Amino acid sequence: MTHARRRLLAAALALPLAARAQAPIVIKFSHVVAPDTPKGKAAQRFKELAEARTGGRVKIELYPNSQLYKDKEEMEALQLGSVQMLAPSLAKFGPLGVKEFEVFDLPFLFKDTAAFRAITEGPLGAELFRKLEPKGIKGLAYWDNGFQIMSANRPLRQVSDFQGLKMRIQSSKVLDAQMRALGAIPQVMAFSELRQALQTGLVDGTENAPSNLYTQKIHEVQKHMTLSNHGHLAYAVIVNKKFWDGLPGDIRGALEAAIKEATAYANAIASTENAAALQGIQASGRTTLHTPTPAEMNEWKKALMPVHQEMAPRVGKATIAAAYKAAG
Ligand code: LMR
Repeated sequence: MTHARRRLLAAALALPLAARAQAPIVIKFSHVVAPDTPKGKAAQRFKELAEARTGGRVKIELYPNSQLYKDKEEMEALQLGSVQMLAPSLAKFGPLGVKEFEVFDLPFLFKDTAAFRAITEGPLGAELFRKLEPKGIKGLAYWDNGFQIMSANRPLRQVSDFQGLKMRIQSSKVLDAQMRALGAIPQVMAFSELRQALQTGLVDGTENAPSNLYTQKIHEVQKHMTLSNHGHLAYAVIVNKKFWDGLPGDIRGALEAAIKEATAYANAIASTENAAALQGIQASGRTTLHTPTPAEMNEWKKALMPVHQEMAPRVGKATIAAAYKAAG
């Protein structure tokens, strides 16, 4: 052995053992909801699958509950590469400039979960993901979280009950138009700020999936909820495109398989998790749940369906037509 080689070997042996082994690829996965929600559980499942399938060459770090970033910041962090993976609600892509995603917020667009899946698993779902690529983002999967309900401190039965209420919404112009069509005053706010805003009266009410309302303890600060199922909540699992494209092929393949499996899990648990959350809300006795009558629902529909037409210039006529066709 030459002197130089001996020196190199000695230097390598001096390194701590962990540093000598190849350091794992770290994927920071940030999201805004509780771990105990359909999205939180699916993210955890993805972590387990991804780490097992890559034999520890990848480490997934989960940051739930807006621990790392709030709604708007997390999109920017993804583009900058400060995090590698997110699963924002489809109602949060407008500020990024991909307004077509707001088609998913059109009230009463889906009659059931199958109608939603027909869109995300069809050509429109793929086309929407293509629109993210110029933004440096790649879409990997859609995760369902079912239908949304309304909450406030007064019963929301008739459209007139919404008059003048300040309602927290996600950053979607379609949701803005929806609340205005009901006579309410929409207010965009990060999810992490919602509970306190309701508690202090900064806003009067909101809409969300029961699993989010329950895990954020919104039922403790809202006296009434209406099981309107007027809107739908779902997510896009997205990654920083440059990071993703730069991964070794075998790693990317293993992660894609893990995502596929986590997606099937997310979609399978959404409805049971939300039903359980609703039961939890009811059992708490803090909130009165209202099931609207057919006449009440018809009145809501009459007020809300014009939002489709109103939002066509923003969302795109062709996108809406494609969504109608897929949703059946
Ligand atoms: C919200 O901001 O209301 C929800 O989209 C949060 C989430 O990600 O489910």
